[in-house]
Amino acid sequence: MLNNDSKIYIAGHRGMVGSAVKRKLEREGYENLIYRTSSELDLRNQQAVKDFFEKERPDVVVDGAARVGGIMANKEYPWQFLYENLEIQNNIIAASHEQDVGKLIFLGSSCIYPKHVDQPMSEDSLLTGPLEPTNQWYAIAKIAGVKMVDALRRQYDRDYVSLMPTNLYGPNDNFDLETSHVLPAMIRKFHEAKQNGHSPVPLWGTGSPMREFLHVDDVADAVFFTLNNEMQYDLYNVGTGKDITIKDLALLIQDIVGHEGDINWDTSKPDGTPRKLMDVTRMTQAGWTYNIELKDGIKATYEWFLKNLDRIKEVEIKS
Ligand SMILES: NC(=O)c1ccc[n+]([C@@H]2O[C@H](COP(=O)([O-])OP(=O)(O)OC[C@H]3O[C@@H](n4cnc5c(N)ncnc54)[C@H](OP(=O)(O)O)[C@@H]3O)[C@@H](O)[C@H]2O)c1
Repeated sequence: MLNNDSKIYIAGHRGMVGSAVKRKLEREGYENLIYRTSSELDLRNQQAVKDFFEKERPDVVVDGAARVGGIMANKEYPWQFLYENLEIQNNIIAASHEQDVGKLIFLGSSCIYPKHVDQPMSEDSLLTGPLEPTNQWYAIAKIAGVKMVDALRRQYDRDYVSLMPTNLYGPNDNFDLETSHVLPAMIRKFHEAKQNGHSPVPLWGTGSPMREFLHVDDVADAVFFTLNNEMQYDLYNVGTGKDITIKDLALLIQDIVGHEGDINWDTSKPDGTPRKLMDVTRMTQAGWTYNIELKDGIKATYEWFLKNLDRIKEVEIKS
């Protein structure tokens, strides 16, 4: 349980999720936060992580550090996605246990669940079928992390919890069209088309698949809730429990951005899985639900995008 001067280590504090957790904890008045960039502390380095934990002795750990990426990156770097994620989480989780960290949150994603699974996907569907092959490397590492947390709870009664968020969006998202997820990519495409005299926006597929989206500040809120409550289970889905067609998402973003041109759906391109939705019953029963409606969240994210356009371009040039 958190108290005012709990020493909280946020791993991955510059990332989309880690930075949202940091903002939330700062807003709630927590001042004893510690964090390191990857160049200050490479979490793949076991000895360096052990030394850091021994010296700093955090009370609480939020693990938002991971090697993340889209389908292309997973395809090109299967070894890195599997091995580096195992290294990062093994080092953090084991050092937390060794140094008697009271509470730990391990963040993963919905890709841990089988490719063909009843919708909405419940926590009980873990390991009931084959994974989506494209990101199996990442998913297997994350499943191992979930099982480490589970093992520590069972054997040592640790108050450690895994949270699996659905598709996220919000500040510090990736807006690079080569590697970004659908929602930030649409924000950018509609914005640039608007700048370009409301030129048509090409989008892939029919627009019929359904997806769920959660603002990253809501994940930070779920992390905060989990830090402040003793949780019954080892694993919780974090989402809205509501989905939207890609077509309706496009119309919503088009309206928010103020693009007045056409949308050209390229139906020769694949649609992907028809539906992916989290079953959020466990988290709801624990007492947590999301706050930010999609429309409000997209408006706020578009404002952030406009304010940070220079930075977004800079990041792309560097990467
Ligand atoms: N984004 C989503 O839509 C989404 C959805 C569901 C779940 N999640 C989960 O949330 C977690 C965080 O994702 P994110 O989107 O916030 O990722 P992100 O923006 O790419 O941030 C990842 C962070 O991990 C740190 N990191 C990576 N390798 C490291 C290393 N070797 N040593 C130290 N730090 C390292 C990076 O630190 P530096 O900046 O210092 O290099 C970075 O801040 C992941 O577990 C992911 O599965 C994300």
